[in-house]
Amino acid sequence: MNQPEAAGREGDTARLYAAQSAGSGQTAESGRLFSGPADLAGHVGAHGPLPGHDGPAILDAVDRSGLTGRGGAAFPTGRKMRAVVDATARVRRSARQQGAVVVANGCEGEPASAKDRTLLTRAPHLVLDGIAAAARAIGANRAHLCLHEDEHALIQVVQLALKERRSAGIDAVDVQIAALPHRYVASEETSLIQFLDGGPAMPRFTPPRPFERGVAGRPTLVDNVETLAHVGLIARHGPAWFRASGMANAPGTALVTVGGAVTHPGVYEISLGITGAELLELAGGAAEPLQAVLTGGYFGAWLPESRFLATRIAPKDLAAAGAAMGAGIFVALPRTSCALAETARVARYMAEQSAGQCGPCINGLPALAGALEALARRGDTRAPDYINSLAPYVAGRGACHHPDGTTRLIASALSVFAADVRTHLGRGPCAGTRRPSILPLPALAAEAHR
Ligand SMILES: Cc1cc2nc3c(=O)[nH]c(=O)nc-3n(C[C@H](O)[C@H](O)[C@H](O)COP(=O)(O)O)c2cc1C
Ligand code: SF4
Repeated sequence: MNQPEAAGREGDTARLYAAQSAGSGQTAESGRLFSGPADLAGHVGAHGPLPGHDGPAILDAVDRSGLTGRGGAAFPTGRKMRAVVDATARVRRSARQQGAVVVANGCEGEPASAKDRTLLTRAPHLVLDGIAAAARAIGANRAHLCLHEDEHALIQVVQLALKERRSAGIDAVDVQIAALPHRYVASEETSLIQFLDGGPAMPRFTPPRPFERGVAGRPTLVDNVETLAHVGLIARHGPAWFRASGMANAPGTALVTVGGAVTHPGVYEISLGITGAELLELAGGAAEPLQAVLTGGYFGAWLPESRFLATRIAPKDLAAAGAAMGAGIFVALPRTSCALAETARVARYMAEQSAGQCGPCINGLPALAGALEALARRGDTRAPDYINSLAPYVAGRGACHHPDGTTRLIASALSVFAADVRTHLGRGPCAGTRRPSILPLPALAAEAHR
C-alpha cells in the first residue's frame, strides 16, 4: 500500500506547488511554504530578507493573523507568544536579563506524518527565519531546533543552512540543533525541555507550563517547525496576507500528509477549509473503494468516508464532526482492510511508545491494546465492555496527553466501526485482518505486531 514519502522528487514539487491553487480554488499562486530553493541565496531571492521589525510589531502581526499551532493542538500562536512575554516580565530582574528561549519542535513523532521533514528539507531557511522572528517577538536570546537523532540527512540539511546563516551573519540568536531519541513521547514539549536541560526525553508533570518555566527555568516558547515557518512569512507579509487563504476561523494554509489508499500519497499545502473530497482529489483520488479516513494521526479519530468527504479540513470543523486535525494527517482506509486490526496495531505501538512513568501508560494502555487485539483477532466477547470500563481510568490521568490520545483513537474505532465489532463478536475475525497494515508503523514495532 502506498505510504506518504517525504517529498524530494520532482513529481512532488509539482504537487506541492499545485496544492495551493487547488486549495484556494481560484489562484495560480504557488505554494507559500515551498516556494524557492533550499539554499540561502535562493531563499532570499524568492522571499526577500526578513524585515527588521521590532518584537512587539511581530507579536502583533502574529496575533492578528489568527495563526494556530500546526503541531497538533491548534493553540493560538500569538497568545502563546504573549504568555511568554508576560511571564518574562513577571520574573525577577536578574532572571529577566537572561531572556526567554525558543524551542522549535521538528521531531515529527507521528509515524504517518511527513510534513515537518519535507518542510525542513525543502525550505530550512523559512523555519530558521521563523525562529529568528519568534525570538525577536518574545525577547529570546537562546534557540534550539529539536530533531530526531536518527534523521541524519535532515540534520545535515539544517546544519548546512545554519552554516550559511552564520557566514552571512543574519541571525541575532544562534540556533542549536538538539538530537532527540526517536520515540513518540520524546517530542512532547515538556519532554523536549527536560532533554535540553540535560535530563531524559520524558514528559514531566505540569504546571509549570513551558511558557512560565521552561529551558533552564526560563520562559520558553515551544512551537512546531511549520508554525514557525508561517511566523517567518507573517513577519514579511503581514496578517492580512496570511488571512487571504483559509477561513475566518481557520486562517492560512497548512501542510497535510495524505496516505493510505490514495493514488498520490504525499505532503500537500492546502488552504484550510477545503473539503475532505477536495483533499482526496489533490492526492489523486482513492486508489480503491474506501470505508473511512483516519484524521489527525494516532492521537486522532476515524471518520466514515461519506462524512469525511463533506467535512472541511480545519481544526474546529473536524472536531465538530468527531474527528481531529492534529498535525494534519489523513490516512485513507480501503474497504477490504479491518479497521479494528489496524487500530489494535497502533494501540500496541502507542502503548510501547510511552515513557513508562505513569500508571495509565504502564498498566492501562497495554491492557486496552490487548483487549482490542483480542476483539480483532479472536472476536473476544468480553473485550468491548472491558475497554469501555477501563478507558475512563486511563484518559486524562498521565503527566502528558499520551494516554488520552490513544484512548480517544480506540473509542473512535469502537464507535465508527460498531458494525464491524458486531461481526467480529458474532462470526470471528473478518478477512481484512489478514491484509497488510495500511497505517504506517516504524519498522521494529510493525514487525513485532504483524
Ligand atoms: C505525546 C506527545 C507527542 C508530541 N509530539 C509532537 C511532535 O512530534 N511534534 C510537534 O510539533 N508537537 C508534538 N506534540 C505537541 C507539543 O507538545 C507542543 O504542543 C507543540 O510542539 C507546540 O507547537 P505548536 O503550538 O506550534 O503546535 C506532542 C504532544 C504529545 C502529548
Ligand atoms: S502519561 Fe505516559 S507518556 Fe505521558 S509522561 Fe506519563 S508515562 Fe509518559
